[in-house]
Amino acid sequence: MTSSLATVSYIGATILFILSLGGLAHPESARRGNLFGIIGMTVAVLATVLGPQVTSAGIPWIIGALVVGGAIGLIAAKKVQMTQMPELVALMHSLVGLAACLVGFASYVDTSTVFPTAAEKAIHEVEIYIGIFIGAVTFSGSLIAFGKLSGKIGGKPLLLPARHVLNLVGLLVVIWFGRAFLNAHDIQAGMTPLIVMTVIALLFGIHMVMAIGGADMPVVVSMLNSYSGWAAAATGFMLSNDLLIVVGALVGSSGAILSYIMCRAMNRNFISVIAGGFGSGAGAPAAAAGGAEPAGEVTPISAVDTAELLRDAKSVVIVPGYGMAVAQAQHVVCEIVSILREKGVKVRFGIHPVAGRMPGHMNVLLAEAKVPYDIVLEMDEINDDFPDTDVAMVIGANDIVNPAAQEDPGSPIAGMPVLEVWKARTSIVMKRSMASGYAGVDNPLFYKENNRMLFGDARKMLDEVLGALST
Ligand code: TAP
Repeated sequence: MTSSLATVSYIGATILFILSLGGLAHPESARRGNLFGIIGMTVAVLATVLGPQVTSAGIPWIIGALVVGGAIGLIAAKKVQMTQMPELVALMHSLVGLAACLVGFASYVDTSTVFPTAAEKAIHEVEIYIGIFIGAVTFSGSLIAFGKLSGKIGGKPLLLPARHVLNLVGLLVVIWFGRAFLNAHDIQAGMTPLIVMTVIALLFGIHMVMAIGGADMPVVVSMLNSYSGWAAAATGFMLSNDLLIVVGALVGSSGAILSYIMCRAMNRNFISVIAGGFGSGAGAPAAAAGGAEPAGEVTPISAVDTAELLRDAKSVVIVPGYGMAVAQAQHVVCEIVSILREKGVKVRFGIHPVAGRMPGHMNVLLAEAKVPYDIVLEMDEINDDFPDTDVAMVIGANDIVNPAAQEDPGSPIAGMPVLEVWKARTSIVMKRSMASGYAGVDNPLFYKENNRMLFGDARKMLDEVLGALST
């Protein structure tokens, strides 16, 4: 492939990636967005492999790597449960970071490129130094995020004494060694500062994510997504690959915007999240925390009585959460919704921005179950409607409907915007026990007078509700 054809293909792929990101912004256009992304990536890979930068001797190696990598990706994608997606994504981010590090070291020891001026050589070395730094932080930070999300590492933030000073000293050492690296006369002399910096960057990534509490993990996931984009862009600079620079910048900036949106959704200040320590309290994942102590009396309800309440309601709002994903209850929810709508009940969904375990988790599940998009509303669109709602049905959600966020300034989730289901005439919470949610805090909603608890697996309970509604 000629270099001009490769450039045209890169421009085409870039446009497809932008269209893909645009499409992914809404469930209705998400499939199309995905398709654009797939075509863009195919064009990008073909243009790179067949382009002028790859010699024919390298092609068998690339094909071998594509087959092995593709097979691992295919198996992982087939095996992974929807609820394990955030862990998988964190693991993928770590690979981008690792790739940036390896490419950095490889381009440093590669002597085939001759730089016409000393300035160009220095710029290339700065790219390598920064690229490896970002890559190493992304690699180790993402591995820790994977450990935290999968429950292998506790969610409690690790707060070392004088941690900010430690970080600052680390950064100064990195800058100092950067000078030594740029002043090195040969590759051997430059290797020591490069390795020292890499070790500090790895420790920095571990420290940064270990210091973040379980409740703030959504922000960390999107922040690492952003870092992986910048690591890819840095790799693009090292390899002089324009497409990688553009795509890395797209991922980096969209990840940064997503982190900002997440922070707003959780009423967190981005800098404070990164500085760590938030989400402490009992901030371990529910599985690890085992739940906070219940603090009151609850009123249970049966599936038959739930069906009765739903049948008699004029307006129903369904709030799905992580438990709906675990129980895979979205299809039966969809069936219940269509029966209620046939009976003339106004049914809508209220989606919290951090419901579940990844951005857009609930939207993906509801789209999969073919719930019409026009009845799926965001938190801000539905919150004012709860006082006029007869039944608010909470399916496997907990933190996102916790009134303590508004009522208890001492709560670890204080200030986080929540869906105000308790303002409906009756709220029904469907979950298996009194265990707490991801943030590990008790939920006063359960003890409110107008609240009912439908205990059991969401799928099983909803099957029973569906059975009662159908008779
Ligand atoms: P959670 O607060 O985690 O609550 C989920 C509830 O579902 C649990 O209390 C659990 O109670 C119940 N549950 C689990 N399995 C169930 C099943 N099979 N059937 C019925 N119920 C089941 O979830 P949420 O309300 O969706 O809030 C999301 C939380 O995750 C927030 O704290 C958020 O910050 C955090 N988070 C979000 C993300 C993103 S990006 N969305 C990423 C990481 C963390 P039982 O055990 O009693 O059944």
